[in-house]
Amino acid sequence: MAKENLIRRQPLRNKIAVVCGGSKGIGKATAKEIVQLGGSVCVIARHMEPLETAAREMQGLVREDSQFVEVIACDATDMERLGPQLIDFVDRHGVPDYLINIVGYANPRYVQDLSLADYRNAMDVNYYGQLVPILLLLPHFITARKGYIANVSSVLGFMGIMGYATYTPTKFAIVGLTEALRNELKPHGIKFSILFPPDTDTPGFEIENRTKPEETALMSKSVKLMTAEDVGEAFIEGLLKNRYLILPGESAPLWRINRFFPWLVRWIIDRDYSKARAQLGKE
Ligand SMILES: NC(=O)c1ccc[n+]([C@@H]2O[C@H](COP(=O)([O-])OP(=O)(O)OC[C@H]3O[C@@H](n4cnc5c(N)ncnc54)[C@H](OP(=O)(O)O)[C@@H]3O)[C@@H](O)[C@H]2O)c1
Repeated sequence: MAKENLIRRQPLRNKIAVVCGGSKGIGKATAKEIVQLGGSVCVIARHMEPLETAAREMQGLVREDSQFVEVIACDATDMERLGPQLIDFVDRHGVPDYLINIVGYANPRYVQDLSLADYRNAMDVNYYGQLVPILLLLPHFITARKGYIANVSSVLGFMGIMGYATYTPTKFAIVGLTEALRNELKPHGIKFSILFPPDTDTPGFEIENRTKPEETALMSKSVKLMTAEDVGEAFIEGLLKNRYLILPGESAPLWRINRFFPWLVRWIIDRDYSKARAQLGKE
């Protein structure tokens, strides 16, 4: 009922969002939610085919003539290629209201199996892939004295578990970046939020599971998997309520416990790791 009311109210009517990493998973669900609530979207991802499929699904949700769905096929870390395409978008549609940065991937493996290139690539995609669109749109936001930038971290942006040595630092980095920019850009009328998804059923999560160490899989078995749609809905609800920290599902209690009793979280994950190793017959 609450969702039906929201759709009826169309709170994002005449709003434009650039959704970077929006052709699959949480990004696609978020972009669809925006269109359902009356907004227009520019969806960015590297591969054209999934972008076109996603755009067709979004077009099917359009209710008003003024709404539009556009796509840009580009790597978000490629500032030189993305820059002119975003300038062209701003020239045609004006300064967007939202920049939503969803690009990211996890490559869970035992630390002994990770190379320096793995760490560099994770930082390149997960950190610079969200920083580059910010740097490109920021001058426009500052001139227009408006803009809402929402970045995507993870539960692993406030705690760390085994298997995620390349991923966790990148998600902490997103939190650090958002904290610094939030404070500096407040006088310019630019707002920020960070989303901390828990495990979510997406194409990215399916790929992640292929290399996940057995212990990591056992440790996260008790965590309830969210749907991308539920995370997308919680994300947009958080933005509409101007929430700085957006914590869907089980990430909310986890964040609170970790904030006030970090030693307890470390004790639990160390215990779960020992249990998983014992289960696998490891010392
Ligand atoms: N799923 C989870 O359990 C989970 C949990 C916590 C946090 N997160 C975070 O949530 C975000 C989305 O995760 P997801 O599982 O929904 O991912 P996903 O299913 O793999 O979707 C990722 C999206 O980003 C695009 N993308 C990836 N690299 C890109 C790049 N370099 N430039 C432009 N677009 C790029 C992908 O399209 P192309 O491949 O065509 O570029 C796709 O549209 C990530 O930041 C992830 O770290 C996910």
